[in-house]
Formats: sequence, C-alpha cells, structure tokens
Amino acid sequence: MTEGERHQLWGGRFGAAPADALRALNNSIGTDLRLWPHDIRLSQAWARGLVAAGVYSAVEADTVIAGLARVAARLAAGVAPLPSDEDVHTLIDRLLHEEVGEPASRLHTGRSRNDQVATGARLWVLAALPRLDSALRGLQRALLTHARTLLDAGTVMPAYTHLQRAQPILAAHWMLAHVWPLARDRERLRQAGTRTAVMPLGSGAIAGSAFRIPRDELAAELGFSRPSANSIDATGDRDFIADVLYAAGMVAVHGSRLAEDLIVFGTSEFGFVRFGDAFSTGSSMMPQKRNPDVFEIARGAPGRVVADLQALLMSLKGLPSGYNKDLQDDKRALFDAVDTLELVLPAMTGALAECRFDAERMRRAVSGGLLATDLADYLVDRGVPFRDAHAVVGRLVREAEQRGVELDALPLPVIRDAHPSFGDDVAVAFTIEASLARRTVSGSTGPAAVRKQLAEAELTVG
Ligand code: ARG
Repeated sequence: MTEGERHQLWGGRFGAAPADALRALNNSIGTDLRLWPHDIRLSQAWARGLVAAGVYSAVEADTVIAGLARVAARLAAGVAPLPSDEDVHTLIDRLLHEEVGEPASRLHTGRSRNDQVATGARLWVLAALPRLDSALRGLQRALLTHARTLLDAGTVMPAYTHLQRAQPILAAHWMLAHVWPLARDRERLRQAGTRTAVMPLGSGAIAGSAFRIPRDELAAELGFSRPSANSIDATGDRDFIADVLYAAGMVAVHGSRLAEDLIVFGTSEFGFVRFGDAFSTGSSMMPQKRNPDVFEIARGAPGRVVADLQALLMSLKGLPSGYNKDLQDDKRALFDAVDTLELVLPAMTGALAECRFDAERMRRAVSGGLLATDLADYLVDRGVPFRDAHAVVGRLVREAEQRGVELDALPLPVIRDAHPSFGDDVAVAFTIEASLARRTVSGSTGPAAVRKQLAEAELTVG
C-alpha cells in the first residue's frame, strides 16, 4: 500500500481496499481540485473555531493555519494529486499531515465533507459571481459605445418582427435592446449570490456538529451573511447552484440572440455590419470567407449551459433528504457553465467592439413600405378610426405592389383618391424622420426617447 492509499478519510471498517472501478467512478479530484483555495480558507476558519470548541489550543490552531497556508502554496505551485486522492478534501488533508503531523488529525473534528463541500462550493460561487458580473458589464459597455455612436450619427435601420421588415427605428434603439436583458441577468446573478451567502459549515454529516463551534463568527469570517438554519437541508441543498445555472442559462440565451442578430446582419444579403479582422476566421477552402465564429459559438453556448442546468435538476429530483453522492456531480455542471460564459463573454465583447456598421446599407433597407403604419396614423390624426385607416392603407399597399413600386413611390393623386382625409401634406408623413419624431413616449425609438434611454442604460450598467 502506498502512502497515498493509506491516506483516506474513511476505511477503518473495511477489510479490503477500494476496487479500481470504484475509485475510477467515485473520485472527484479531477473536477473539484479547483475548490482548493476555498477549502483551505474554510479549514483555516474551522481550525480557529476548534479553539472555541476546546479541541485545539491557540498555538495548535496557529500551527494548523500556517500549515494550511503552506499547503495552499504547494497547490498554487501545481503539486499534482496522487491517483489515490479521492477528492480535494482528502488531498488537502494528506498534504496538511505532511506539513504539521498530528494536529492535522484533529482538524476534521465535528465536521464532515458533506458540510465542507457545500461550504466550499458556495465560496467558489461567491468568488465567481463578481467575475461574471464584470464580464457582463463589459459586454454591456461595448453595446453602449456602439449605441452612442449610432445615435450621434442618427443611423436608422428597419426593425424586424418575424424577421420581416417592420418599422423604421434608430439603430441605437436596437443596440440598446440587448443591454436590458443583460441588466436583468446581472440582477439574477446578484440574487443568486444573496441565496448562496448562507453557510452550511457546522452541519456536520447531517445532524449538526457536536462541538461548540461559534457558527455566527465563522459565517462572518468567511463572508457569509448567516449560518444555515437546518443541518439536513444545508448538506443536501444545491438550490444555489440551480439558481446560478438558471441565471447562466439566461445569459447564454441572451448572448445567443445578440449573436444571431449580428450574424444575420453581417450576411452579404443584409450587409449592415462588418466583422473585425481580429475576431473573424477564414475558410481553408474558400479564400473570400470571413466567418463570425465567435458569434456562432456564442449562439451555440446555451446548448451546453442549459444542459448543465438540466443535468443538475435531474440529479436533484427525487433525492432523499440529506447528502447523497449524486450531489457530487453538481460541481461539474457548475464549473462547466461558468467556464463557458467566461470564455464566451469576453470574446463576444471583443468581437462586438470591432464590428463596424454600414449606415448607408441600413438606411437603404428602410423601404417605403415600412411607413405604412405612419400613413395609417396620419389618417387617425385626422379623425379616422384606426381600423378603417388600416384597411385604407392596406389597399394602397396592394396597389403599390401591383405597380411594382414602394408605398412611398405611389403618385400623390392615387393616395388622395384612397381617402378624403388625405391632404397634400401627406408626403410629410412619408419620411423616416417624421416617423421617428412622432415616437416620443418613453421606451420608443424617437431620438429624444432613445437619448433618455441611453442615459438610463449608462446609469444601470455603471
Ligand atoms: N467529493 C464529495 C462531493 O463532491 C465530497 C463529499 C463526500 N461526502 C461523502 N459522504 N462521501 O460531493
């Protein structure tokens, strides 16, 4: 038996060593090694708690805490786990024995890997959330920069419903439409953080620690808002991971929608946007290609992230209360989702920042037909019920179609004949600028409303 194989946190009651197939299946070190900074921190806090509980003298606790710091230094330097290290907790326990000897054997007093891993995973989440927040903020800032430039230039474009040209809008309005979903994502992640900030440590395996650990102090020291209320719940609760995965799934979904807009607008058919060189890829066969791979990968990302949420929820479903080994898989889902976003978001931000918009192409796509609603609104202003106005303009649209011209190219007499309320001034309603200027209500695409929206967005994004 190697030194590593002897170092196990359990095994006293077994007559044989674990089978290779059990180890291969059961070991989680490959996934949870990255929890080590948090496991070290919570173990140092636990060592201090054991002084209050009368298990360690102050000197012994200092020895253990310093030993854990040396273990951290070795882990930071990349010390490789042995194949026999079951998980990050076992590994740290082994290394701590190497560092300080006997006092290490008392560190696990009154605690279990069940409350330990639940606490470590929460600490990991609390450290990851600010990183995600700033990645999201970075993407929002790239959107805001474009929005400001597009607004200052007065760039217009068609808005689409059903991916069919619908109405003229300011391009800044479209850009800002992608800022708000990300603001909601950041709020969701903040809320997930609030629920994550509850400390399971002191719950033991399931019934709570039999040693008088000052849990409130421990929670405060580790940055939690409070200790958990029920040891059974605390050791089996992975709601905080589900919260993060749902919020992460929404981030991925929002990223995919932004990506799809850009991919579509970047096709030769649209030609609204040109992707930057540093964020585009070529084809091994077709020399002319400039592919928006970043946005395509972003479009595909929800496949993974939402699958991670699904995987966790399936692991949780029907579990008996308390800790069960099914829960070990929670971290694979959590890490995968967060890793995916931490790869995708900065690349999206960079690729978006390099996008150049073709104001000319965008404006040309605002064809006369898009002013049909404004033409109906013109009649409404002159007392015609909207339903009737809609029908009148509908007939004009058909007439234009039959003549093979845009709505705004119909001769004035034809329009005047369609309804007695049409006056000579109807041509005035037939401009993109007039259409935009009418939209003064908050949240709409009129220049003043968008200017206000931009200011509000800047404030929200921070
Ligand atoms: N590696 C385990 C996990 O991630 C730690 C908890 C193990 N608990 C136990 N009773 N075997 O869930």
